[in-house]
Amino acid sequence: MSEAQGGGIEGALEALRSGFAARFAAAATEQALRDENAKILGKKGELTAILKDMGKVPGDQRKAIGEKANLVKQEVEKGFESCLKALAKQKRDADLHAAPFDLTLPGRAPAQRGHAHPLSIVRDEIVGIFRGLGFGVHDGPEVELEENNFTKLGFPPDHPAVDAQDSFWTKGGLLLRTHTSNVQVRAMTTQKPPMAFVAPGAVYRRDDDATHSPHFHQIEAFLIDENVTLAHLKGVLAEFAERFYGPGTPVRLRASYFPFVEPGAEVDIGCVFCKKPDGTRPGCNLCKKTGWIEILGCGMIHPVVFEQCGIDPEKYTGFALGMGIERVAMLRYDIPDVRLFFENHPRFLAQF
Ligand code: DAH
Repeated sequence: MSEAQGGGIEGALEALRSGFAARFAAAATEQALRDENAKILGKKGELTAILKDMGKVPGDQRKAIGEKANLVKQEVEKGFESCLKALAKQKRDADLHAAPFDLTLPGRAPAQRGHAHPLSIVRDEIVGIFRGLGFGVHDGPEVELEENNFTKLGFPPDHPAVDAQDSFWTKGGLLLRTHTSNVQVRAMTTQKPPMAFVAPGAVYRRDDDATHSPHFHQIEAFLIDENVTLAHLKGVLAEFAERFYGPGTPVRLRASYFPFVEPGAEVDIGCVFCKKPDGTRPGCNLCKKTGWIEILGCGMIHPVVFEQCGIDPEKYTGFALGMGIERVAMLRYDIPDVRLFFENHPRFLAQF
């Protein structure tokens, strides 16, 4: 009986040993392989079951059967590891030889796409119109010398804008530019006429309420050549109003004062909010019942500015205009508070 016990265990071990390789080879996935391995070597596995009767094996056979069991266990472990590796290699080869992943396929889930900020939309549209009229785009610094922001533009030293109350000054005669008109100086002091530029950018003033932000944006445009007249300015303004505010939008100039132009004017367009199909404008809240909306300042470049910038005012004339982007965008989108542009609230931005 004891001999039969020993022989039974040995036989069972032998059967396990000769059978496991085929069982592992039949496992097609890593999980199947792991399951098969657990069936043999796991706590409740076949090997444990076989060795359960070791106690009944006569003492003189026990050592040999124990060693045999260990050998079988090691062989199974080895076989499992090498099958695991083979499966991993198979999978890697399959991946490497699979058709390449197409990165250009559109995603399956509709992704939330970003879009331009409303101020950028308005800026790009305005700049696009001036470019269409032949203006080039000119850049200028936001931290500027006093002389480029004020002095060369004809501001007297006691002009209120030059005051610390109104502008952000740094040490050493530098300030955050209060308007994009500094680009006029930058262009005129570095190149010879003829020139026509549009200059969008950020500007800064000590102002902070629902319609004034300390940081806001303007677009400047200017054209300098021989024989430029107010008629050219009016032509450009009329064309701009047509293209930006719609066909038939009337334009009017009201005399006004800016140190760097003479004559200077403020420009109104016929109110686009209360315009009736017959072309009349009875007046609304946005135009304060006047039928007109102010959109920009402009004028003929002052001879003093030309002189300060080294351009001969006897030979050249030119016009300049400047407008606030926030104001245009607020009117267009009916936005009541300028601060909404800078709070970057997703619910606000998603509307454009
Ligand atoms: N720089 C002026 C401002 O910030 C706007 C302006 C007015 C620009 C008249 C011009 C101009 O070029 O001719 O209010």
